[in-house]
Amino acid sequence: MAITRWYKEKKREHFYNEAKRLGYRARSAFKLIQINEKFGIIKKGDVVVDLGCSPGGWCQVALELTGGEGVVVGVDLLPTEPISGVRLMRGDMTTDETVERLLEVVNEKSVQAARPDLLVDCVLSDMSPDISGHYTTDQARSIWLCYRALEFARKVLREEGGFACKVFEGEDFIEFRSELKRWFRHVRPFSPPASRKSSSEIYLVAKGFRAVPLPKAEPKRAAKSENEDEEEEAAPRERFL
Ligand SMILES: C[S@@+](CC[C@H](N)C(=O)[O-])C[C@H]1O[C@@H](n2cnc3c(N)ncnc32)[C@H](O)[C@@H]1O
Repeated sequence: MAITRWYKEKKREHFYNEAKRLGYRARSAFKLIQINEKFGIIKKGDVVVDLGCSPGGWCQVALELTGGEGVVVGVDLLPTEPISGVRLMRGDMTTDETVERLLEVVNEKSVQAARPDLLVDCVLSDMSPDISGHYTTDQARSIWLCYRALEFARKVLREEGGFACKVFEGEDFIEFRSELKRWFRHVRPFSPPASRKSSSEIYLVAKGFRAVPLPKAEPKRAAKSENEDEEEEAAPRERFL
C-alpha cells in the first residue's frame, strides 16, 4: 500500500475511533470542532442552525459549544435520531416550504429562549448533494446548496453573525466566495485536518454578517475605448473585494 494511502486510512480510522469513543454520531463532528477552534463562530448561549444535519454529529458539537444555554436547530432531507436539547426537523432546504417551516421553528425557539425573533448567531451547512461521480455536476449541485444556505442565513442572521458551509472546489467557487464577501466582513477557506486529504471539499467560514451587503462588483470588460476610460475615471469607484 502506498504510504500516502496508508496515512489517509490511518487518519480516517483515528477520527472514526475517536468519534466512537466520545459518542459522536459521525467523524465529521471533528470538522466542526476544528472550524470552531480556529474561527470561534459558536459561543456559549448562541442560537445555531445546522443545515444538512443528519446523522447529527455537528448538532452534538453545537450543543456542547452553546453550553446547553443556547438553541440548536437541525434540518435534513433524511431523518435524524433525536438528540436531547436539539430541535430536529426533516425537509429539503432547496424548497420554500422547508425554509418557511424552519423559520417558524427558529422563531418559536428564539422566543422560548427569550431571544429576539429570528436572530440567529450562526448558520452552518454541511449539506452534500448525492454524489453522481461526475465531478462538474456534483460541484454545481454543491454550489447550489451553498447559495440556498446563504439565502437562508441572510434571512435569519443577526448583524455580525457567523456562517460556515461545505463547498466542493471548482468552477463557481470563486464567484460564491465573492458573494459571501459582500455579506460578511471576513471570509476564509479552511480544510479541517479531519477532512480527507483526497477530498475536494473545503469549508468557507465567514464572520461579521452585514445586514446591508456591499454592492456587486462590475464584471471586468475585455476591451475599452479611450472614451470609456474617461467615463470610468469620472464615475465613483465601486468597492472591489
Ligand atoms: C455530510 S452529511 C452531514 C453530516 C453532519 N454534519 C454530521 O455531522 O452528522 C450531509 C447531509 O446533507 C443532507 N442534505 C443534502 N441535500 C440537502 C437538502 N437539499 N436539504 C437538507 N439536507 C440536505 C444529506 O441528506 C446529508 O445527510
